[in-house]
Amino acid sequence: MNDKIEEILFSIEEISKKVKALANELSQKYKDEDLLVICLLRGGFMFATDLVKEMDINIEMDFMTTSSYHDATESSGHVEIVQMPRAKLKDRNILIVDDIIDSGNTILEVKKHILIKEPKSVEIAVLLNKPERRVVDIEPDYFCFEVPDVFVVGYGLDYKNFYRNKPYIFTFRWEEKNEIRCTNFKK
Ligand code: IMP
Ligand code: MG
Repeated sequence: MNDKIEEILFSIEEISKKVKALANELSQKYKDEDLLVICLLRGGFMFATDLVKEMDINIEMDFMTTSSYHDATESSGHVEIVQMPRAKLKDRNILIVDDIIDSGNTILEVKKHILIKEPKSVEIAVLLNKPERRVVDIEPDYFCFEVPDVFVVGYGLDYKNFYRNKPYIFTFRWEEKNEIRCTNFKK
């Protein structure tokens, strides 16, 4: 697996530093408040886990499953809400946590579905922000890193469901029909 890594964009240490800083900011903001953190599955699992571990306030945690990528590096544009959170959403402060905001379609659709339930507030935290790719009018309230228009994996982000377990963010290369392909296509 290691021989396919093209470039490590964010190391374990860099990620940990940013995640801790964000956790501190959120702990301050939601101190003495009711907070429900909703992790988007599957990509948001590692970021959400590390983030809530560093937050020293009481939070309720729930999960929501969406689907938009169909084994490709391009979004289908159509976002399916596979599973809504089980928690009560009405009158709650909600923090949506995901791995990356790319086109923005996923977060927009998730936010719409949550707003229908009349929460008190909704904020969005993502690890990565890819602003060049945005096609809808939505921005995250918090992000750890901005990334250019390259396909990245690791730390929850996948290619065909692989690489999610790697603790850093990287681009990779693979061989196809004797051709070397690379996700860092800006190179
Ligand atoms: P959006 O709906 O286009 O904003 O994309 C959101 C979802 O697409 C994310 O939650 C990821 O699962 C996936 N995604 C977008 N860009 C990347 C990437 O560079 N690598 C891996 N997954 C990505
Ligand atoms: Mg995802």
